[in-house]
Amino acid sequence: MTTSDLQEAAAALRAGRLVVFPTETVYGLGAHALDPDAVRRIFAAKGRPADNPLIVHVADADAARRLAAAWPEAADRLAKAFWPGPLTLVLPKAPDVPSITTGGLDSVAVRVPGHPVAQDLLRAADVPVAAPSANRSGRPSPTRVEDARADLGDAVAVYVDGGPTDIGLESTVVDVRSAPAILRIGGVPRQAIEDVVGPLAAPGDGPTPSPGTRYRHYAPRTPLHVVTPEALAGRLEALRRDGPVAVVANQENAPPEADDVHVVVPGRRSDGEAWARRLFALLRDLDTGAFRAILVEAPDPQGIGEAVLDRLRRAAEPGPDRS
Ligand code: TXA
Ligand code: MG
Repeated sequence: MTTSDLQEAAAALRAGRLVVFPTETVYGLGAHALDPDAVRRIFAAKGRPADNPLIVHVADADAARRLAAAWPEAADRLAKAFWPGPLTLVLPKAPDVPSITTGGLDSVAVRVPGHPVAQDLLRAADVPVAAPSANRSGRPSPTRVEDARADLGDAVAVYVDGGPTDIGLESTVVDVRSAPAILRIGGVPRQAIEDVVGPLAAPGDGPTPSPGTRYRHYAPRTPLHVVTPEALAGRLEALRRDGPVAVVANQENAPPEADDVHVVVPGRRSDGEAWARRLFALLRDLDTGAFRAILVEAPDPQGIGEAVLDRLRRAAEPGPDRS
């Protein structure tokens, strides 16, 4: 990206317009976080429910601190360990963060992204930037700028292309207002968080999950089935009787390609990073209508694999809302 492109994007943000930009996780749909009219445009462009709060992006931990009414010790430790990077902290919100940005909550989610283009843009804009993933609500998050463009079109003033994103799925969201708890698993693995702040609150003991995790997400229009290695072959035989099937499988166990079976291998079972990097682009690319089903053999749930499985389960959930 040239300096003038960057300046144009930064000026658009300051003027209250929408900018799609790369982060190390997924592309974000950014707007001036302290300008309610700008933030309203995000909700309209995505078709996002108003009670689903946004993550506010800033260039460094000092800027993050200014958005929060308190800065607990766990915030300090996690920020030092993982920022810049794929971690979001939920903190009590400072009074000047508008309630539209936080979905009406009295907390604010903040993140310092590590992508160099995101860093440059945030420094040039010099305002906090609210940015959800740059997809229409209910679509897979975009890992390529063209995916964001396909979903959002002319609603966005400037698209900043940084190439395919590195991690491929969203940040881990940790609530640090009391005993730290994961609200959404993502780019930083659970174990890495526990190594810094000790054992996390068990699911159910902690605060309610992020509002966004209540909504149907990452939904391909083609039915998606997630199976164990043992079940893969049998399930494939049953599904292919009704038409062509796309299979996403681990290297150890992938079936042969055939006229009616398209096979994609993201990596070995233990290579959660490779799975994370390709997952959302695959969901988009295989969802063309050419297949009667997408059959996925799950990778190991270790490390970032836990987040891969979380996103796969959401994509596989049956539901009336397949829009
Ligand atoms: O990696 C990411 O986190 C990407 C990039 C662009 O930074 N952003 C992203 O934003 O995934 P979004 O809006 O698609 O997901 C944000 C999640 C939602 O589940 C939302 O409900 C939750 O974070 N969240 C935001 N603010 C919150 C708050 N104050 N309390 C609890 N959850 C919050
Ligand atoms: Mg999202």
